[in-house]
Amino acid sequence: MNSDKKRLAVLASGSGSNLQAIIENCQNGYIPAEVAVVLSNNTSAYAIERAKNFNIATVVLETKDFDSREAYDKKVVEILKSYEIDLVVLAGYMLLVTSEFLKGFQGRIMNIHPALLPAFAGTDGIGDALTYGAKVAGVTVHFVDEGCDTGPIILQDCLKIKEGETKEELAKRIHTIEHRLYPEAIKLFCEGRLEVEGRTVKLKS
Ligand code: GRF
Repeated sequence: MNSDKKRLAVLASGSGSNLQAIIENCQNGYIPAEVAVVLSNNTSAYAIERAKNFNIATVVLETKDFDSREAYDKKVVEILKSYEIDLVVLAGYMLLVTSEFLKGFQGRIMNIHPALLPAFAGTDGIGDALTYGAKVAGVTVHFVDEGCDTGPIILQDCLKIKEGETKEELAKRIHTIEHRLYPEAIKLFCEGRLEVEGRTVKLKS
């Protein structure tokens, strides 16, 4: 193991296309890190298959097997600590993290959201932007705090919504941006180039 490399945990509940982009960018050397473990709350998440294809350790934990969300997150933190994780990357992870989790990885949890936060937070950022009639959509990578999609913003990018564009078409274009933006944000973290001052994330050269 290269000791300069950071150790990432990716948490995903669904398809895992962001996970795939992160793994590929670790393997091609763009991100100075390795994905040490992939964890999901969903037994049928395709993300788990993707991780296995790369021989990456996987863990599936279902919330129904725990008395509370705190108890679930306590276990998640225990597992991630056992993998000596430097950064927790939420990639389509459909659970809100509790204070138990935040305590365990203070300032070391990132999320990606398919909208220009603070607009259209929540589970359907793309659909909500279309329903609202927005002309611009986008992607936000942010640190995670106790709120839903409220933490300090690391990177954002935007695109113009085309007239008559369907949700599927827009989602496809948004995913293309995500697969570039998330690796970039993770790379910056791994290089120690992100400095948080209040709500502002500063980029150190
Ligand atoms: C992405 O659009 C991400 O922004 C959101 O969930 C989706 C996950 O997609 N948080 P995938 O599972 O990485 O393909």
